[in-house]
Amino acid sequence: MESQTETHRKQKKWLRLLLFPLPLQGHVSPMLQLANLLYSKGFSITIIHTCFIRSPKYPSNNPHFTFHSIPNGLSKSECSDADNLVALVSILNANCAPVAGLISDSTWEFTDSIAKSLQLPRFVLRTNNISSFLALAALALLQEKGYLPIQESQEEKPVIELPPLKVKDIPVFKTQDQEGLHQTIAALVEQTKSCTGLIWNSFEELEHGSLTDFRTIFRLLSQDQSAISWLNKQAPKSVIYVSFGSVANIEKSEFVEIAWGLANSEQPFLWVVRPGSVIGSEWLEPLPKGFMEEIKERGHIVKWAPQQEVLAHTAVGGFWTHSGWNSTLESICEGVPMICHPCFGDQRVNARYVSDVWRIGVHLESKVDRFEIANVVRKLLVEAEGHEIRDRILQFKKMANQSTQQQGSSYRSLESLVSLILSSQSQRKL
Ligand code: UDX
Repeated sequence: MESQTETHRKQKKWLRLLLFPLPLQGHVSPMLQLANLLYSKGFSITIIHTCFIRSPKYPSNNPHFTFHSIPNGLSKSECSDADNLVALVSILNANCAPVAGLISDSTWEFTDSIAKSLQLPRFVLRTNNISSFLALAALALLQEKGYLPIQESQEEKPVIELPPLKVKDIPVFKTQDQEGLHQTIAALVEQTKSCTGLIWNSFEELEHGSLTDFRTIFRLLSQDQSAISWLNKQAPKSVIYVSFGSVANIEKSEFVEIAWGLANSEQPFLWVVRPGSVIGSEWLEPLPKGFMEEIKERGHIVKWAPQQEVLAHTAVGGFWTHSGWNSTLESICEGVPMICHPCFGDQRVNARYVSDVWRIGVHLESKVDRFEIANVVRKLLVEAEGHEIRDRILQFKKMANQSTQQQGSSYRSLESLVSLILSSQSQRKL
C-alpha cells in the first residue's frame, strides 16, 4: 500500500524547495532537519551548498535530496582555518555574492518569475534561429488568417505574411492538444519579451532580414531615465504620471482623447506609452499633428519608466493608472493619489476600493473624453478634493510603513509564519 507521504508527494506534484545552508555543521544540521521535515510533507528538496567544511558525508547520508555545489573560492588553508568564524563568514559572503545573472534556455519559462523574484537579470538563449522564431511567434496570427490547420491542397501556396515560407513550411507540431501547444508558444513569446537580453544561436549576416524584423516586432523595453531628469525640472506635486501597466492596450480614439485631455488640463504630465499598446499603431503615430510642439516642455512621453522612482519623486502629484495591483500598491506606498481607469479583471475591483472604500483616488468611470480627463486631472492636482485625497493616502502610506515596523501587522505576520515553520519542526522532534 502507498504510504501517506507518497500520497502527499503526488498531491504536491513534486513541488521543489531550494535550501542554501552555510557549510558549517551547526548550520547544515538544522537546515537538513528542516529539509527532512519538508520532505516528509511531500516536497522535493534540493540543497545548494558550497563545499562542506567539516562533514563531506552529508550528500551520501541524504540520498533522497539533490545536492548541487557552487564554488566558494576558499583556499585549503582558509577552509582549515574555519575556527576563525567571523573571517570565514565574511569571505563566504563576499565570494558567493556576485551573481551577475541567469542565462536560461528559452523553453524554461518558469525561470522568468524566479529571476524576477530574485531581481536577477535574466538572459534567454534561443537555440533555434531567428527566422523560425518569427514563424513560431506568428502561429496564432496564421491560425486566425485560416492557414491552420494546413490543408493538403494549400501546401504549396506562399504565406504572404512570412516570405519566403510556403504553407507546408509553417512550423506546426503534431499533438492532440493544439490548444495547449498554442498556450505554451504564447507564454514562450511573452517571456522572450520580458527578458533582459536574448542570445541567438546564429549570426547577424546570415539572418539580417529576420533580425531586423525581430527588432521591430519585439522591442525589449528598458526604463527610460529621461523621465527622472524631466521630473527634476518640475515643481513639487505638479505632475500627473500616466501609465497603464504592462498588458493593457487602448484604442486609437481613446489615445487621442487622453492626449487632448492631458493638454487641456494645463498640468505637466509624464506619460508612459508602451510601443504597440495603442491598437493598430507602432508607437505615437496617432498623436495629433503638432501636439508635442504645442505641449513643449510641459509633457514628456516615454516607452517605459522607472515607475517606483517616478512615484517617489517629489514632483509627482498624481497617478493616472489602470489600477493594476502592483501600481496601486506602489502608489499607496509613496502616498500618491490616483485617477483610476481600470481596463480588465482585478483592476475593476481595485479601482472601486481605491475610489469608494479607501477614498484615495478618483474613479474615471465615463467613456474616455478629453473634457472629463482635463477636469479629473485638475481636480486631483489643484482642487480642494484632490488635497483631501492626498491627505488620506498619506495616512495609508504611514500605515504601510508602520505595518513593516517591529510589532506592525506585516511584521507580526512574518513572525507568525516563522514560528509556524519552527513549531512544525519542533513538533516533529518530539
Ligand atoms: C497585471 C494585471 O494587468 C493586473 O491587473 C494585475 O493586478 C497584476 O498583473 P500589469 O497590468 O502589468 O499587471 O499592472 P501592475 O500590476 O500595475 O504592474 C505593472 C508593473 O510594471 C509595476 O510594478 C510598475 O512599477 C511597472 N512599470 C509600469 C514600470 O516599471 N514602468 C512603467 O513604465 C510601467
